[in-house]
Amino acid sequence: MMRIDRCHCFRITFAELKAVAEAAGVRDGGRLSAHVDFGRKCGLCRPYVRRMLRTGETVFHKVVTEADEPKPGPSGG
Ligand code: FES
Repeated sequence: MMRIDRCHCFRITFAELKAVAEAAGVRDGGRLSAHVDFGRKCGLCRPYVRRMLRTGETVFHKVVTEADEPKPGPSGG
């Protein structure tokens, strides 16, 4: 079964990103990126991080693309 649990480009897991988000009190990807490096290379992890922030999941077993997640709000996603 496929297992997607991290931003490969920046070598950081979604669980680690979630912990940073909780510690910083941020709930969107744009604000999270001010606290930790992820998502600025291939960008494939970004919709997973958005879903993680929305649902709390940190391990995914199917492909999640930008089209699968609600659009980011005015503050970025
Ligand atoms: S996997 Fe996160 S930027 Fe490539």
